[in-house]
Amino acid sequence: MPANKPKYYLTTPIYYTNGLPHIGHTYSTIVCDTIRRYKRMRGYDVVMTTGTDEHGVNVERAAKKAGVSETEFVAKMAAEWRALWDDLGIQGDEFIRTTDLKHAHTVQWLFRLCRENGYVYKGHYTGQYCIYDNAFVSDAKPGDNCPDCGRPTETLTEENYFFKLTAFQKPLLDLYRKNPNFIQPETRRNEIISFVEGGLKDLSITRTTIRWGIPVPGEEPHVFYVWFDALTAYLSAVGGPEYERRGYWPADVHLVGKDIIRFHTVYWPAFLMAAMLPLPRQVWAHGWFLMDSTKMSKSKGNVVHPRPIVDVVGMDALRYFLLREIVFGQDGSFSYDALVTRYNSDLANGLGNLASRTAAMIEKNFSGKIPNPDSFQPQDEALAKQVQSAIGEALEHFDKFAFSRALELIWSLIALADKYLAAEQPWALGTSDADAQRRAAILWTAAEALRVVTVLAHPVLPESTEKVWTLLGQAGHVSSQDLDGLRWGRLEPGILIGKSQTLFPRIEKAEAIERMEAMENEPQKPAAAPAPAAPTGAAAAPQAAPEKIGIEDFAKVEMRVGQIRTAERIVGADKLLKLTVDIGTEIRQICAGIAQYYEPETLIGRKVAVVVNLAPRKLRGVESNGMLIAASVGPEGRPVLAGFHEDVEIGSRLK
Ligand code: MSP
Repeated sequence: MPANKPKYYLTTPIYYTNGLPHIGHTYSTIVCDTIRRYKRMRGYDVVMTTGTDEHGVNVERAAKKAGVSETEFVAKMAAEWRALWDDLGIQGDEFIRTTDLKHAHTVQWLFRLCRENGYVYKGHYTGQYCIYDNAFVSDAKPGDNCPDCGRPTETLTEENYFFKLTAFQKPLLDLYRKNPNFIQPETRRNEIISFVEGGLKDLSITRTTIRWGIPVPGEEPHVFYVWFDALTAYLSAVGGPEYERRGYWPADVHLVGKDIIRFHTVYWPAFLMAAMLPLPRQVWAHGWFLMDSTKMSKSKGNVVHPRPIVDVVGMDALRYFLLREIVFGQDGSFSYDALVTRYNSDLANGLGNLASRTAAMIEKNFSGKIPNPDSFQPQDEALAKQVQSAIGEALEHFDKFAFSRALELIWSLIALADKYLAAEQPWALGTSDADAQRRAAILWTAAEALRVVTVLAHPVLPESTEKVWTLLGQAGHVSSQDLDGLRWGRLEPGILIGKSQTLFPRIEKAEAIERMEAMENEPQKPAAAPAPAAPTGAAAAPQAAPEKIGIEDFAKVEMRVGQIRTAERIVGADKLLKLTVDIGTEIRQICAGIAQYYEPETLIGRKVAVVVNLAPRKLRGVESNGMLIAASVGPEGRPVLAGFHEDVEIGSRLK
């Protein structure tokens, strides 16, 4: 592979945190993960970004309902999304949260550039707004429902900053014309072209009615509107204003569902053009998963979650099903029945069976070593030729994101290898030298077909192909195989293979479906189990040692560098000081029990460590939204504020 690998940057949508991922979201992420693995095997230095979209009125409301601060609410949800992707082995390389400080800086920077270049102005906007989709519904009248989710819209008037989207009608049409691949698939491209040709309206990009958002610097209470905020996350993840240093921007592909294609192919390139920044190379919109012919979505309550499926059939089976069953770009239906059918036919009887029977025959006849054939017959060479020519074809399908066709082709090779074994019947050969030689040729050929299939299928079936790789006695990981160097005939004789094992045990359909449905109907378990409560009270047994926590528990506490702006005593509360603390994204009011040890005026400007995701509470009737970290010294517990000896940026996270 070249020393200086070409860079490749791809993204999933940045998901809302008002629910847990269902298989619609999982699909987008799995597709991206497949491309990421594929491109790595083609020699690219790949970065994949995923993350969570955490601002907006929905979150304000959900946090209020849950009785926690927005910060706490989104921190918990983001941790759950992250843990799920981790569990599923699809964590990506960058996980951006729109509440990350680096993201806030990037959004503010992008806004400044757009404004300096004359594309931002102040105005008023009145319209029908869907709070669930975080979007004004164009052409809707009061009383109309949202066309997407069917829920009532609300009439909203407010002072906004507007982005001059109208100035970009021609540049956008030029972009689509000059780069026919910018929007994929073709149907979406045509839709967007006619949308833009139909005329654009300027876009409101800030809100004054929403509190939970990134502040527009110097223009409070304006906060950025969700799409200006969310789309910028793609850039924040790879360096923000310093994107050139990391070298991944512009993105090679933004992978999105068709519901959000307009935001990605109209707004996003227009924002970037206004700021004179490089544009992403492509936006690929996949279709929807339908349940009973309607889009699977949380608001419709018809969702299927990935965990029960993964528990019963495994992650690779879910990945295979999603990529094989749906033609990428089109809608497709989900059913447990189809999932289990595919599992049994393609994985248990297909790949699993070819691997275990080939390994078992090599074990039995060649003491577990890859045989060394001395000659081949035309039927062996025919299989070799078919496999060899399928390699290039499969890569072409992967390049076009035609996953279903790639898998169809790879599985046709499995079928050919099965047919070949059935025709050649190595098990029926005798013990003569000639028969032993013939058996060696057949089993080497079958094992070689299996090796090629394993490498080609790896981006889709990462776990099970690693197992086949080990089973075939191959060194290293299949993930580090170079797809460009994949050729028939490289299987080395004499290598000791692994013990034959069942990769995909056959499952009984009715029972498997029952189990998945039962798990789906249980309340969805949080990703990380809460730490057991420490025993309290006189009867509790003394604990031998303080309980250890995992890093994920520590990660739940969000601590940041804050700077004290104001400090004053609270009448009637002689231990408390009321402080306002700048934590980078906002100014917080925090009460601290340090009044007996610190004079308020000595604290102004001091940098402190702040726990920012504690639920707000009232101390002596004064709201406190966060906590300062202090050492508790001596028997009287004198507080000594934690601080920094070096200059640190306000808002930096403590880890
Ligand atoms: N937060 C925005 C995206 C901002 S991107 C800068 C958002 N989030 S979302 O949580 O609603 O996720 C939307 C994405 O999830 C869709 O674009 C799609 O990729 C995926 N899916 C959600 N439901 C889906 C189906 N039923 N089927 C397939 N994918 C779907 O929109």
